[in-house]
Amino acid sequence: MEKKKSVLFAASEGMPFVKSGGLADVIGSLPKVLKSQYDIRVVLPLYSDIIERWIDKLKKIVTFNINQGQKQTVASVYRYELDGVTYYFIEHQGYFERNNLYGYPDDGERFAFFDLAVTDMLAHLDYFPDIIHSNDWQTGMIPLLCKRRHPGDARYLKIRHVFTIHNILFQGNFPPEMLESCLGLPMELFDDGTVRQGRDMNFMKSAILFADKITTVSNNYAHEILTEQYGEGLEQILQRRSWDLWGIVNGIDTDMWNPATDKKIAKRYTVEDRKGKRECKRALQRQLGLRVSSDTMLVAMVSRLTSQKGVYLLIDNMYQLMGLDIQFIVLGTGDEHAENGLRTLEYRFPHRAVYYRGYNEELSHAIYAGADAFMMPSVFEPCGISQLISMRYGTLPIVRETGGLKDTVTPYNTYTGEGTGFSFKNATGDDILHVTRMATEVYYNNKDAWNRLVTNAMNKDVSWEGSAELYYRLYSSIL
Ligand code: ADP
Ligand code: GLC
Repeated sequence: MEKKKSVLFAASEGMPFVKSGGLADVIGSLPKVLKSQYDIRVVLPLYSDIIERWIDKLKKIVTFNINQGQKQTVASVYRYELDGVTYYFIEHQGYFERNNLYGYPDDGERFAFFDLAVTDMLAHLDYFPDIIHSNDWQTGMIPLLCKRRHPGDARYLKIRHVFTIHNILFQGNFPPEMLESCLGLPMELFDDGTVRQGRDMNFMKSAILFADKITTVSNNYAHEILTEQYGEGLEQILQRRSWDLWGIVNGIDTDMWNPATDKKIAKRYTVEDRKGKRECKRALQRQLGLRVSSDTMLVAMVSRLTSQKGVYLLIDNMYQLMGLDIQFIVLGTGDEHAENGLRTLEYRFPHRAVYYRGYNEELSHAIYAGADAFMMPSVFEPCGISQLISMRYGTLPIVRETGGLKDTVTPYNTYTGEGTGFSFKNATGDDILHVTRMATEVYYNNKDAWNRLVTNAMNKDVSWEGSAELYYRLYSSIL
């Protein structure tokens, strides 16, 4: 049998080890699907959280020096196998053993180190993947490093590179000196404009230029980022490479997110027998101190609370929205201003609105299962994982028609009854109110239509199957 080709995924987070958002969902689920055709491995930073929960299982396999330009650092690599996927973890106490994943003043230095360590690790392991699949700015320097750092080593030059943009808003912009001092690369790469964006050096731009193929997480977003409105300044570079830019929509781990088997929800249910969903709703209302009522429409949101997610559209229109006969739950953390707005909502509408501040995996399952509708009024949304999960749990998404939300949610058609949720076009109070009112009208006055939508949503294929085929085609095209 021919040896499988190997793909190394490089990322800054991945389930089941660490998660701050949808990137971790993707890194935790896509490799498991692709492994049937490829030898798939994943490399992540060894954060404190991972050490706490997994260190007993990990095996240290190598320690080596890294020449960072102006300094020498030491990195160790740990290895672990899970579900047929090999994981590598890069250890550096100073950079990764902290309370949070991101948000530090030296993030540039931290991930410059990670990219160097991933690149140099290959020589020490004598493992040269056919493809390195990097994700978002944190891994953006890898394609360039592989090409420049070991000029005499053909094994590095043979590697093909795929770079996936999960969110173009975060590009990794840092002072240009970092090129030399943290990455050991010549300043001419900045001076001649190659990795320069404005006054900064830019990790994502470097990846867009040096990867063989660029992908993003929905077809619609692939078009959007070519425009000034969504491109965040990288649109022209992307236009130059548009021939190599693919939009491949995300799926979810349908074993982990399955209302028929989910141990984190009050009662399991299926599309044919949905009685359990009513119990999940009552349990959720009880747990969060809402009035327990099967018949009141329960709308929820599980999200990072940033302007990307349209949270201010909600807050600015909360009195009108709560004028509809609904209960509202928000789970999330983020901007202080948004958190305060949601505290006000909870205070004004006792037993009808709850804001749970925090990151809580367990509660998120209970919410996806217990709510009737899921609110996602994003200003932009590369793909969105939450609307996929909510459809799987028969919780109808109410989304703004942007990015992957437009590609994955079919809006309710009042004439044909088709649809898997509700959608609106403009990020305005009028639009969000209009669509939410429409959803409540269907919920209260047209139960048959609502139930049909729930059936459609639960039957929708949100797995990786279709997209995996596209990744195979993409990989073949560069091998
Ligand atoms: P993004 O990656 O932009 O934050 P996605 O919709 O792609 O948005 O993915 C968000 C993921 O993070 C989903 O799996 C969602 O359930 C999860 N999530 C977001 N906020 C929380 C939270 N406060 N508690 C638990 N899970 C959360
Ligand atoms: C980013 C995007 C989100 C996407 C996720 C996984 O966090 O904001 O839309 O679903 O990455 O690709």
